Amino acid sequence: MAERGGIFNILRHPQIYEGVQYLFGAERGRTWFARQHLRAQRGERVLDIGFGTAELLRHLPGVTYIGYEPNADYVTAARATYGQLGSFNQGFFGEAEAATLEPVDLAIVSAVLHHISDAEADRLFMLMRRVVKPGGRVVTLDCAFVEGQNPIARLLVGMDRGRHVRTPAGYQALAARHFAEVTGEVRHKRLPPYTLWAMTAR
Ligand SMILES: C[S@@+](CC[C@H](N)C(=O)[O-])C[C@H]1O[C@@H](n2cnc3c(N)ncnc32)[C@H](O)[C@@H]1O
Repeated sequence: MAERGGIFNILRHPQIYEGVQYLFGAERGRTWFARQHLRAQRGERVLDIGFGTAELLRHLPGVTYIGYEPNADYVTAARATYGQLGSFNQGFFGEAEAATLEPVDLAIVSAVLHHISDAEADRLFMLMRRVVKPGGRVVTLDCAFVEGQNPIARLLVGMDRGRHVRTPAGYQALAARHFAEVTGEVRHKRLPPYTLWAMTAR
């Protein structure tokens, strides 16, 4: 995982991470992302890769939730909040995990791609192609550089701790190597100004 260190390390603590998320209006963003892009149905099997503190789970009622997250502190926080509502696995999602996972309807990679290199992202899409059922989908969300975006948004996106922020075309190219249909939406947030790219691959 490629991340900026220094002051950004403080974000590894679950409460501080959640506080910063709150200031950035993350909960409203999750509502938009869940309604417009995840569109999870009750009974669906959902894989959430890099689930953080699993806050998306509030927006996925009635699903079978399986998450993988490398940061042990985030996993502990997720288990404390959501208990039996999902399976919160600590670690990366790799070959071994994909080989034993029952196929899923939806794979979520929210705010993770901009932390990982093209090679890592390629491996992840390859694995997701294996575990997503025919007719299922992968849905991602990331900050993005977009031509003509608000200069403050560009500045804030550029300050993200992830070192692999891309343009929408850059994210699309990663998914298109493994999925036939890749669509997405740019969201220009106003307060604070910020630019997001939500993408669906089938
Ligand atoms: C910005 S947080 C997003 C958390 C959550 N998905 C969300 O949307 O709120 C990025 C997360 O990706 C995790 N992560 C980083 N590299 C990863 C990788 N290669 N595979 C899976 N997760 C990764 C980090 O530990 C962190 O929890």
